Amino acid sequence: MIVAIGSDHGGFELKQRIIEKFSADGHVFSDFGCHSTASVDYPDFAEAVCASVIEGKTDAGILICGTGIGMSMAANKFKKIRAALCHDHFTARMSREHNNANILCLGGRVLGVSVAEDIVHVWLTTPFSGGRHKNRIGKFSD
Ligand code: RB5
Repeated sequence: MIVAIGSDHGGFELKQRIIEKFSADGHVFSDFGCHSTASVDYPDFAEAVCASVIEGKTDAGILICGTGIGMSMAANKFKKIRAALCHDHFTARMSREHNNANILCLGGRVLGVSVAEDIVHVWLTTPFSGGRHKNRIGKFSD
């Protein structure tokens, strides 16, 4: 799986940590920035990561800002995007099984590193359940 990843300054450090840890596990990341803790605008990175997923250049995306809220709001403006702001193992699993989320949003100023890594692991390895959930998703997303 190739994963598009992006953050603003509030998520930069967690983004670097996730790339480092999960690359070592064999995941491939396409890093859309940002590239430092200098202040930037999160919608710019949400748009770039979402475009990559929508165009099929990457299989899924991860977006990180301070809270994860701005990134999820910006990403969900795109009809083909189902961005899930996850805070724990359970929401990560459900966002894949029931919502077929194609973008994971995280709050870099909210989550501890170990919890964030657990969320990413679950999210990247949990398949969509399909069935009744497919019909429901079709009512709001392409
Ligand atoms: C940036 O200070 C902060 O507003 C941003 O990272 C994010 O939390 C917005 O939702």
